[in-house]
Amino acid sequence: MSGNQEMAERASEAETKSQQPASTPVDYPVGPASDFPPGSHRIVQVRTQEVGVFNVNGNLHALVNVCPHQYGPVCDGPVGGEMRCNASTGWKFQWSRDGEILICPWHGLEFDLTTGRCLAPKEMRLRKCKVNVVEGEVRVSLTGG
Ligand code: FES
Repeated sequence: MSGNQEMAERASEAETKSQQPASTPVDYPVGPASDFPPGSHRIVQVRTQEVGVFNVNGNLHALVNVCPHQYGPVCDGPVGGEMRCNASTGWKFQWSRDGEILICPWHGLEFDLTTGRCLAPKEMRLRKCKVNVVEGEVRVSLTGG
């Protein structure tokens, strides 16, 4: 191979590499989908992180098991709903969103499982992970979900 051919080949390789994303997300298998029926949740290990995988009304949501308040194991907390009293409920107290709200066991902050957002203060949120099912197996990626 001539020097010019070698240089052209290296330039081509470098161009190909520069077109690839800097870091490709990697999915980790965490168990069969049958282990995550609706209404259930499990805490799984993904590399060095504990991740809570929740099945909310048939949709999987994965959240890193660290509370943004004081770093408590938020996914160990109970799952419930929220009491509403506003114009949409006719100004009557009404239990809603049952199975969609995670309560941190340390100080009781509540988080929307589907978004990771704290009910109050809203700027606080859990870190979500990408989660999907491939050939019957639940797979979690530590990159955003
Ligand atoms: S550590 Fe979760 S509410 Fe304080």
